[in-house]
Amino acid sequence: MRCLDGVDINDQRVGLRLDLNVPIKNGTILDNTRIIASIPTIEYLLERNCKILIISHLGRPKEDTFEQKYSLTPVCDDLSNILGTKIKLITTLDDAFQSNEKIFLLENIRFFIGEKDNSLEFSDAVANTIDAYVFDAFGTAHRKHASTYGVIQKCSNSYAGLLVEKEVKNLTKALFNFRSPLISIIGGSKISTKLGVIQKLCDISDFIITGGGITNNLLLSKGFQIGKSIFEEEMEETSRKILANNNILLPDMVIASKSLSTQGSLKSIEDVESDEMILDIRISNEMSKALSQAKTILWNGPLGVFENENFELGTKFLCKSIAELDDCFVVAGGGETISAINKFISTKDISYCSTAGGAFLEFVEGKELPSLEALGFKREEEKND
Ligand code: 3PG
Repeated sequence: MRCLDGVDINDQRVGLRLDLNVPIKNGTILDNTRIIASIPTIEYLLERNCKILIISHLGRPKEDTFEQKYSLTPVCDDLSNILGTKIKLITTLDDAFQSNEKIFLLENIRFFIGEKDNSLEFSDAVANTIDAYVFDAFGTAHRKHASTYGVIQKCSNSYAGLLVEKEVKNLTKALFNFRSPLISIIGGSKISTKLGVIQKLCDISDFIITGGGITNNLLLSKGFQIGKSIFEEEMEETSRKILANNNILLPDMVIASKSLSTQGSLKSIEDVESDEMILDIRISNEMSKALSQAKTILWNGPLGVFENENFELGTKFLCKSIAELDDCFVVAGGGETISAINKFISTKDISYCSTAGGAFLEFVEGKELPSLEALGFKREEEKND
């Protein structure tokens, strides 16, 4: 992968694609982790006297339609505060580098015609505005858009930024150069959205711990009653195939409740009633043993509805167990996973927290990420071919 190390980028006008897609409510940023993670590359470029045009998306707005709720204004203010310098928010490419500021931030790139369909014309327009392009938006590396693919190809000097390098290095370590035992933890509501990932992880993990709707599907396939719990009927056969791997650790005790607003009770998986939902699991002795012996852990998705204290037991216990490990490389990814880590422990307790959700899953699954491919990235498997 083409990286910045050894490249003379001094004094250039650099387009910098970041993933500043942060949660915002009524104009207030709720979590600026992705902004903070972008700072090292910005500073790297400033130290080399570059002028920077930052490009990012925010949410999924309609093309060619400005909507205030998708404006990068709050991001611009937060970034200016963090860097202690005024960043100019511009609405057209023509305004880039037109005044004395060191950093310009282009309004939400998804407002622009041609971004989402990776138009050659728009990619050219961006590439012609800059001398070099740095792609540091790992969270968006699975999108084949103009700013995440076309511009990387069009600009003769395009490189991965420091965050992308760090993400790839840590995910590669957990997936290809890991120390055994490897324990994978996959939670979340729908088994179908994580199917490829579970199948891939079944192949390389010693054990897999699942949570959420995924567990409900697996319990159902094993013949247990899951009452009114969420599950996907069409995933029945797939669940059976996953179970055939014999390395899935299912819970023996769950927290079931008639509704999200009542407390629920801890019970055996054999005792779930027809009008109850499984909303959390208890970490079994078998799971605890596997966790305590793990040398590598890959984690995406909570084990229960942890936002509600009635259903936080499994995810909280998992967090505490991981925080106690002292010789284990732990990689976690996905918005909900990082929220759970922030709620019950700290990101400092985790070896590496990825800034990505969808891109993290696609990387783990073994899919080619368009941005990385355009940067010349080769997976360990391909390198060995
Ligand atoms: C994310 O939050 O996963 C990334 O910013 C990508 O956003 P998208 O799913 O809207 O492309």
